[in-house]
Amino acid sequence: MDTLSETICRITGASSVELGEEIQGLWSGYGVIQRATLRRPPSAAGVERMPVVIKHIDISRVRCNRRGWGGDVSHLRKVRSYQVEKAFYETFSQQCDASCLVPGLIAAHEKENAGGWIIVLDDLDAQGFDRRKDHVDEQSIHACLSWLANFHATFMGTSATGLWPIGTYWHLETRPDELASMRAGPLKQSAHAIDSRLNAAKYQTLVHGDAKVANFCFSDRDRDRVAAVDFQYVGRGCGMKDVAYFISSCLSEQEAASRQDSLLGFYFGRLEEALSARGIAIDFAALQNEWLELYLFAWADFCRFLSGWSPGHWKLNAYSDGITQSVLVQLGRS
Ligand SMILES: Nc1ncnc2c1ncn2[C@@H]1O[C@H](COP(=O)(O)OP(=O)(O)O)[C@@H](O)[C@H]1O
Ligand SMILES: [Mg+2]
Repeated sequence: MDTLSETICRITGASSVELGEEIQGLWSGYGVIQRATLRRPPSAAGVERMPVVIKHIDISRVRCNRRGWGGDVSHLRKVRSYQVEKAFYETFSQQCDASCLVPGLIAAHEKENAGGWIIVLDDLDAQGFDRRKDHVDEQSIHACLSWLANFHATFMGTSATGLWPIGTYWHLETRPDELASMRAGPLKQSAHAIDSRLNAAKYQTLVHGDAKVANFCFSDRDRDRVAAVDFQYVGRGCGMKDVAYFISSCLSEQEAASRQDSLLGFYFGRLEEALSARGIAIDFAALQNEWLELYLFAWADFCRFLSGWSPGHWKLNAYSDGITQSVLVQLGRS
């Protein structure tokens, strides 16, 4: 069997590869994301050395180490997520322009019998997007919301063939264990109604599905733009799922409450521009009305997941509880 370096040379056409720094381990040690340099890859004509990032997952060992893995919902969700990420890069990512930048795909490979994946991507750090943040100022938040608006505009109405039929890592159908462990009560009773309401949205796009601050790459040279990575949970959905979850990833309850309207206003301004820049004819007022209502449902849906997965989570706070209550009132289940 090929070594990792041999496989990378074979799938990229590079004459050799130097494996570099490990960025992080993946999924309980069964994979790694690491930097590498390709020598003379044909995809970069005339370039001698090309910096890349390799996402490598090897699940052959997971299978023998885990009992009953075939029935393990979380295992199957992970496996599917890597197939989805590969499909996103192969089939959809080329449509993302500089306004919703994603790393270029150099090569992707699935090992026999879904035994693992190797995804070779352009290194965004080498393109100036070398900053990661846990605390974001207004300009950085706007840059991320602008990325989301442009991504949602790009894929407005697109069908999710090869991706998750319904995106996000917390989608109800993929989280039966978390639903079962929720405390009995109106939110648990309404889990399917909230999900159905989101799925019935007239205006659907592709959502990133895990659009937290950690999955955006920032640049000091170009502070109004970001790039995004980690497309394991991309699928069809209402754009508010990404916006609500992004806000949950970087704002405290007080900040989320006080800035909600201005951030949503900013997002919708960008979305309108992005749709018209792409010549997409749409009743924007109707879209905005629908999605503003669904902002609340997207939060309630995320809180449904959190309250089964991690009941004391800090994101279950006065702001998100208030929103969930308002949704339960709308559904007549408070
Ligand atoms: N193409 C890339 N260029 C630069 N950095 C990257 C690239 N892909 C991933 N990274 C970095 O590696 C981190 C982990 O990658 P990610 O795909 O999000 O893996 P995980 O699914 O484990 O979160 C990202 O948050 C980002 O900082
Ligand atoms: Mg990530």
